[in-house]
Amino acid sequence: MFGLEKIASKIEIPPEGIDADLAIPSFRESPEAVAEKIRALKSPLFKEVVVKGRYVNISFNYAELAPLVLADVAEKKGEYGWNACGAGKAVMIEYSAPNIAKPMHMGHARNNAIGHALVNLYRANGYRVITTNHYGDWGMSLAKIMLAYGRWGDRAAFDKDPVRHLLDLYVRVTKESADNPELEDEARALFRKLEAGDAELHAMWQEFRDVSVANFERMYGLLGISFDIDNGESFYTEFIPAAIREALLKGVAQYGEAAEGGEGRPIVVSLDAFKLPSFLLQKSDGASLYGARDIAVVKWRLEHYDVSKIIYVVGHEQELYLKQIFKTMGLMGYPEEKLAHVSYGMVTQGGKKISTRTGNIVFLEDGFEDAIARARGIREVGVGAIIYNMLSMGREHDITFSWDAAMSVEGNSAPYIQYAYVRAKAILEKAGALASPLLSPYPHEVGAREAALLKLIAHFPEAVRQAHALNAPHLIATFLNAFAQEFNRFYASVPVLEESEGRDLRLALVAASAQVIENGLWLLGIAVPERM
Ligand code: ARG
Repeated sequence: MFGLEKIASKIEIPPEGIDADLAIPSFRESPEAVAEKIRALKSPLFKEVVVKGRYVNISFNYAELAPLVLADVAEKKGEYGWNACGAGKAVMIEYSAPNIAKPMHMGHARNNAIGHALVNLYRANGYRVITTNHYGDWGMSLAKIMLAYGRWGDRAAFDKDPVRHLLDLYVRVTKESADNPELEDEARALFRKLEAGDAELHAMWQEFRDVSVANFERMYGLLGISFDIDNGESFYTEFIPAAIREALLKGVAQYGEAAEGGEGRPIVVSLDAFKLPSFLLQKSDGASLYGARDIAVVKWRLEHYDVSKIIYVVGHEQELYLKQIFKTMGLMGYPEEKLAHVSYGMVTQGGKKISTRTGNIVFLEDGFEDAIARARGIREVGVGAIIYNMLSMGREHDITFSWDAAMSVEGNSAPYIQYAYVRAKAILEKAGALASPLLSPYPHEVGAREAALLKLIAHFPEAVRQAHALNAPHLIATFLNAFAQEFNRFYASVPVLEESEGRDLRLALVAASAQVIENGLWLLGIAVPERM
């Protein structure tokens, strides 16, 4: 009834406790018949093909499997585990998107980590990836900070530590405008002046932008990330009027009622039919809004890049907003199905929500510095500890950042996994020239520890596929943690360097393990250290 291809697509890794390496559920066709088809392959790789209930269980012949897997790793090296499922396709990934005049804090580390990991995962799955940043460099929040600088700014404090000073001003203006609503009006007036091209304000805006971007770029340097497109929101402002006109022409947006006493009418997109809240593209005073800009942004991206998907790595508090934007694009005739929100939960630190508004933040820059110091100056380990901690949980969960967990030597941390790598490298160095690669079936019984490690090495490509299919970098983190655990068990119980019949196999396993860890960490945006 089913061909082999159909069967292959159903292969599962059985849960622990089942004594088999692969399992194939067969509910429609008789499992006996499926087992017969597999036995008929006469593959030397399969030791046993047995039926258990509605499952066909397969166990490997590790002596046959070992040379195939290990030669594959040795040959593909930094590309072991990669596949070509995205060949010929391009995706655009927007991530990071910090706001100008506000510091990057530990919460941003999660966005950067998820975005960077997705970029690498898509590349490893054969896609061409176009990365885009999206600086929040336009709008009322920035206008308020500029207003605050005009009132309370201190040139010396700014010159000394611009990002800190701007944060202090932001906290102050937020607090004061709660009792003093005129500040909002003043900020609005300032923003209008800026939009009209006032030279002095533009110079201030440019300076704020420059000092912020310089700070962001220091972080990107540490994280090893860069962007193909680094336009900010301000770049798209000139395309907004055309986008709003198009929405009106296509009947997706309508004029609303003028406010009492006023003449101007707002422009609204009504999404009632889709059970989504309506939203404004333009206020009655003519000022355009965030949503209008995002529509112009999607248009610009689709006009300039031929991509099969645009992925937005944005926190889950903007989920509803992005649904509104995506639906609006669909109604305007654009390919809504190409727009995807990859959301993630909040990061708390020390039990408190990170909040720029109140100033309760740890600057990412200070976080990195602290981490590197805790890692005794080893940059890859310090930076990696933060990144891994941000990725080790499913992205939808809220997480609490903790130094104990991030730096743990017991497991589930970058240092733990990196340490397994450094150990593997040290063994290889001690062994001198690598033993000749295994070309033919291993002539001896493969021990249990060796088999367990081999199985994980062979499983890595599947983890890469799955993590990509689900946009789930944490699957790679989880895989690597299990891998390092297995490697440590192997290392503790098998005398790798001992001159005996198994030495070639053991050394080849160690070399492949180092490669798998290096490749897996690379996917997460984490570098391997030379020493620890
Ligand atoms: N800068 C925004 C923020 O910090 C995120 C931007 C999201 N991207 C977008 N195209 N709207 O909240």
